Amino acid sequence: MKFFVENVKYIICKGDLLMSKGQKNLVNAKKMQKDEFYTPLSAIENELTNYEMEFVDKTIFCNCDSIDSNFTRYFIMYFERLKIKKIICSNYNFGKPSEIVSYDGCEIKKIKIQNTSFDSDELKDIYDEADIVITNPPFSKFKKFVSFLIDLEMDFIILGNINAISYSSVFEKIVDKKIHLGFTKKDIRFVVPDDYESTSSMFKRIDDKNTILVKGVRWFTTFDINNRDYFVPLNSKSTDYFDVFDDMPEIINIDEANKMPINYCELMGVPITFLDKLNSKQFELVGQMASSAKTRTNFGYPFVNGNKKYARIIIRLRKE
Ligand SMILES: C[S@@+](CC[C@H](N)C(=O)[O-])C[C@H]1O[C@@H](n2cnc3c(N)ncnc32)[C@H](O)[C@@H]1O
Repeated sequence: MKFFVENVKYIICKGDLLMSKGQKNLVNAKKMQKDEFYTPLSAIENELTNYEMEFVDKTIFCNCDSIDSNFTRYFIMYFERLKIKKIICSNYNFGKPSEIVSYDGCEIKKIKIQNTSFDSDELKDIYDEADIVITNPPFSKFKKFVSFLIDLEMDFIILGNINAISYSSVFEKIVDKKIHLGFTKKDIRFVVPDDYESTSSMFKRIDDKNTILVKGVRWFTTFDINNRDYFVPLNSKSTDYFDVFDDMPEIINIDEANKMPINYCELMGVPITFLDKLNSKQFELVGQMASSAKTRTNFGYPFVNGNKKYARIIIRLRKE
């Protein structure tokens, strides 16, 4: 066992040297179902160190991860320090039989099952046993993946694209403070298979591995990590400067976060990236304008003077 854990540690150290295309790549991944973007250990460490208290005595399920994934390696390497109960990882093999590996601090167990897709019935007992799902799921299946975890009422810490904020299943949970954005807001350089596109400016060959820098990556979590001490400076003295939305003239459109009006406590539509700065002590998150379907939290598409804007979140300044 010692040899195995030491070996994993060695591979991690080596692997990190190798690690660390823009959003277009995510869209491409979705179109082509190119989902093999391997997360660097450094990105996992940067985020997960913020949740260590949540891991004590917990069973962690990395449900899109082989034994070689850096998520699995992270939990094996820091098993004792994090005081976790068990780490389980399942290796997807495109519908073919594959292995589930677990480690409880003493023993590594491997079992083969027919279908290790994250939504496979064969994983039901593992979801019952697990406390938290932690992984970087396939980009092309993110919506289905997150809805699956929400339905299971499972705690999670997962990587996705910032645009996933607009999915109604995700956004409603963000408004209800049941899903939060994680700590790290940096672009991530992923290792990709050798046959992945290599013409983009985001592509780089590092240590004999193909890597692609992906922009707009965010962590999504059910843990309220309460990391928002930042207050957005309010600058504009007048709201005359701002247009209103065609279908909702009571909401002003703000394109740039550095031009927020002072003492304006009515509704404002801001770019979705504003969520990174949103401190619920300063602003109330009311809804979004992201799609035509009107719901409790979605108010239709954002049109200003006949021009369609990119998705907006709707916020209101809290009265002091
Ligand atoms: C973005 S990659 C990340 C891999 C690993 N979690 C990591 O962070 O390095 C997503 C992985 O999910 C796997 N995958 C695709 N469809 C899946 C499914 N239905 N169930 C589980 N995993 C799946 C892909 O083969 C791919 O390896």
